[in-house]
Amino acid sequence: MSETERIPGERFLLAPGPTHIPGEVLNAMHRQPMDHGDPRLEQLIASCDAGLRRVLHTKKAEIYTFASNGHGAWEAAIENLLAPQQAVLIPMAGHFSEQWAIQVEATGRRVIRTKLREGYPIDPNDVEQALREDSKHEIAAVFVVHTDTARGCTCDLQAIRKAIDAARHPALYVVDVISSLAAAPFEMDALGVNVAIGGSQKGLMCPPGIGFVGVDERAEAIAANNPAPRYYWDWGRRKAKYNYTQFCGSAPQNLLFALEAALALLFREGLEAVQARHALLARAVHAAVEAWSSAGTMSLHCRVPAARSVSVTTIDVAPGIEIDAVRAVARERFQVSFAPALGVQRGKAFRIGHLGDLNAPMILGCLAAIEAAMTVCRVPYGREGMHRAIEVLAEPER
Ligand SMILES: Cc1ncc(COP(=O)(O)O)c(C=O)c1O
Repeated sequence: MSETERIPGERFLLAPGPTHIPGEVLNAMHRQPMDHGDPRLEQLIASCDAGLRRVLHTKKAEIYTFASNGHGAWEAAIENLLAPQQAVLIPMAGHFSEQWAIQVEATGRRVIRTKLREGYPIDPNDVEQALREDSKHEIAAVFVVHTDTARGCTCDLQAIRKAIDAARHPALYVVDVISSLAAAPFEMDALGVNVAIGGSQKGLMCPPGIGFVGVDERAEAIAANNPAPRYYWDWGRRKAKYNYTQFCGSAPQNLLFALEAALALLFREGLEAVQARHALLARAVHAAVEAWSSAGTMSLHCRVPAARSVSVTTIDVAPGIEIDAVRAVARERFQVSFAPALGVQRGKAFRIGHLGDLNAPMILGCLAAIEAAMTVCRVPYGREGMHRAIEVLAEPER
């Protein structure tokens, strides 16, 4: 499609980030910025901080917000929490835990990895064992990706907390909730998470460009004593009174307008209702994919039903299925974008993102468009998919 060609109606974005942006959020961004000294800018920042605390379910944590994507927020955790050469345990959940590990190593720290269990979420026993083996307590923190957005598995954060406690290890508990926040239950304080890491472009329904961390008192103290040289990411510098210093330069004002509007939408719907909507839409997708799988050409990647993500579904495809061709047909002919697999899974799987500002007709439209694209590309699939998804969506409301 050329850039000038107009397609009637909406194009659907079913990627696991960036996600569909609600009209209210787009409109909120459409205004002139303020001067750095305008008290309304302070109010905007305070309102976003308060909203993020509410979504993270924390009363205690400091919020530090960066003009960055999720990788920036990852780096903030690394630079503030880990001294040069210090070690971190990263339980392997898939592409994103590996990428985070690579970033840790690139910044001069050491990573201890657990073994990736393909198709399964992080096993808390692996975490406990790795921590028990660290008798000298060299591991400073455990970095956990809640939902590996590439694999579509969500781990049990409570069980991992218990594993750290059972090993009697003082490591900090640092959790990436970039692709699960707002969509799946997460309670930072109740889980004893020391640092939570989020981004704007997924369950928070904003464009990419804001990364943030919630930091508890213990992690703050460790950061304050960390000798690692740092500047832009330094939490200490960001405690300043003026927003220009808090953001280490200009605040991303129009993104903050977006975030404030998006948070208001989440609170208006109710956080529990938002999670229930995600759970329902995810079940509809899983049901459709299970039906498609009866033709033997694909299968759900996550083998544990309870661990299947409410944000994204990863579907393995059989050798010989040209899934990128199906994606191109879905996008160009049926106006539905769904995501490729990442890293080592590229070409062997695809992903349907079902988080953020989505409803049942958008999900049904997506599933139907994928079926249409598979039909065009002559990919055999079980024909009961739409029916199964509709059955889930038509269940009596709980
Ligand atoms: C779980 C998770 N962590 C980190 C990232 C990296 O975020 P970004 O692409 O905003 O840098 C992503 C992006 O998809 C993600 O899904």
